[in-house]
Amino acid sequence: MTSEELLAQADAVAANAYAPYSNYFVGAAVLTRDGRVFAGANVENAAYPLGICAERTAIGKAASEGVRPGDVEAIAITASPCGGCRQWLHEWRFERVWFRRADGSIAEYAADDLLPDTWDLPE
Ligand code: THU
Repeated sequence: MTSEELLAQADAVAANAYAPYSNYFVGAAVLTRDGRVFAGANVENAAYPLGICAERTAIGKAASEGVRPGDVEAIAITASPCGGCRQWLHEWRFERVWFRRADGSIAEYAADDLLPDTWDLPE
């Protein structure tokens, strides 16, 4: 699947974002190695810090269906992932992370390039 195709699925799900406070609609689509796609949008809450980002919604949907770190090939996001989500992308070991920059171009990174010298639980 191309970045454009996966990003189109992220764009589609962004329309379902529940973002009455920021009015900022984000979508993310996770592609698994066996070809499944799990898409999620941001879901806000009146207690602002409790809102969840689109990336975490999408990963949570995949995890709930039994997907595990390493089973995922790529994620496409309609915007640059926040710092917290970058930690999630690291945990899930995405091979490719695609997101749309503010200028409309598509960025491609490996998850760990988005968070160098990442913290991990000590062995
Ligand atoms: N948001 C995401 O869904 N993903 C990100 O990586 C950045 C921020 C959402 C959270 C909140 O609902 C809205 O964008 C504004 O911050």
